[in-house]
Amino acid sequence: MELMREAGLDPRIDAAGNIFGTRDGSERGLKPILFGSHIDSVPSGGNFDGDLGSLSAIEVVRTLKDRGVVTRHPLQVVIWQNEEGGLVGSHAAVGDVLDLERQFSGIRLGDGLRKIGGNPDRLAEARMAPGSFHCYLELHIEQGGNLDRAGIPIGVVEGIVSIDEYDVEITGFANHAGTTPMPERHNALLAAAKLIDAVQQIVTREPGRQVGTVGRLAVFPNAPNVVPGMVKHSIELRDLSADKIARLGQVVETQAQQIARDTGTKITITKVEHDPPALASPEVQSRIEQAAARLGLKTMRLPSGAGHDAQMMDKLGPMGMIFVPSVGGISHSPKELTHWPDCANGANVLLQTVLLMDTSQVLNTRDPAARPTVSE
Ligand code: HGY
Ligand code: MN
Ligand code: MN
Repeated sequence: MELMREAGLDPRIDAAGNIFGTRDGSERGLKPILFGSHIDSVPSGGNFDGDLGSLSAIEVVRTLKDRGVVTRHPLQVVIWQNEEGGLVGSHAAVGDVLDLERQFSGIRLGDGLRKIGGNPDRLAEARMAPGSFHCYLELHIEQGGNLDRAGIPIGVVEGIVSIDEYDVEITGFANHAGTTPMPERHNALLAAAKLIDAVQQIVTREPGRQVGTVGRLAVFPNAPNVVPGMVKHSIELRDLSADKIARLGQVVETQAQQIARDTGTKITITKVEHDPPALASPEVQSRIEQAAARLGLKTMRLPSGAGHDAQMMDKLGPMGMIFVPSVGGISHSPKELTHWPDCANGANVLLQTVLLMDTSQVLNTRDPAARPTVSE
C-alpha cells in the first residue's frame, strides 16, 4: 500500500481483503482499466508467482506519473486476497459466497479477513458489478515451460483452465500394528494409496491435457505402530473443459466407493472449489500482441494450466493475461525463476497494453459468437 501511495494511487482494502488503488483519468464517465495480481504464495513457493504482476502494475502507474501521462480512463490497480487458497478475493468480487469456516494456514477465513483489514460481515460490499471496468489485465509468469522452451519472451493467454478441488476423508479403524492380523485391518492409508493411484490412472488413461493431483495428505494418528484410522487428503482436477473434469470427478467417486468396499473403510469426497474455465477477450489479446510488437517482442498464444483471478474477472468483463517465461517451467517452488529482462519485458508490455486499451472504444462485447474456441 505504501508503494501504491508513492505511485500516486489511493489504496483501500475492501471487505474481502482485496487492495484497490485508483488513479483518476482525464475524461469523466469512463470505466477504469483494472490490472493487478496477487502477493500471497503457496507454502515453500517462489518469488515471482503473483508478485511480478502486482509490482509491475504499481510500476506502470508510477511510470505514467513520473512521465506526467494521464490516461483517458481511470486506472485501478488490484491486489487480490488469497489467490492461492482458491481465488478467494476475486470470488467475493463476483458475488460468490465465501466459506468463512474454511481454514488456511490454521486460520479461519473469517478471522483472517479481519486480520488483514477486511470485514466478513460486509462481504456484499466487495461485489463488483458486471461491466464495471473497461478491461482487466494481468501480467503473470507462465509457470509452465512453453515460452522457455520456444525462446519466446511474451505469451498471450487464450484461456484459463477450469479447476475442481475436493477434500477426501477416509475412515478406517485405528488399531495395534503388531497384534491386528492383516485380514482384519481397516487401513485408511492403504485405501488412500489405492485412491491416489486410481486418480493417476483415471486422469492419464484418456487423451487430452487434463491433469489430476493429490497434493495434501494427513494421516491419523500418524504413528509407526498404529494401523492408520483416518486419512484426509485433497484431489484437484484441471482442464479447459469443465464438463471433462466433472465427468472425471464422477469416475473418481465411483472408483473410491469400490476401494472403500475392498478395504473395509468409509470414503467421503466433498467438492470444496469449482473455478470455471475462462476465455480471454479477442480484442484484449490482439492489443497485447500489438503492445509486444511495439516493443519488438515476439509472442505466442497459449492456454493457462494455472488458475488466476483473471478467470473470475472474465465473469464481469473482457480480460487478458500476459505471460513471461518461467525457467524450466518450474513454479510453486523456491526454484521458480524468471530472468529480470523477461520481468521488464512483461512490465513494459503491460504498460503499452494499458495505453492501447486506453485508446480503444467500448469493449464490453459479451457476444458469445465473437468469442474464440480455445484449442483443446
Ligand atoms: O494453483 C494455481 O493454479 C494458481 O497458482 N493458484
Ligand atoms: Mn498466481
Ligand atoms: Mn500460484
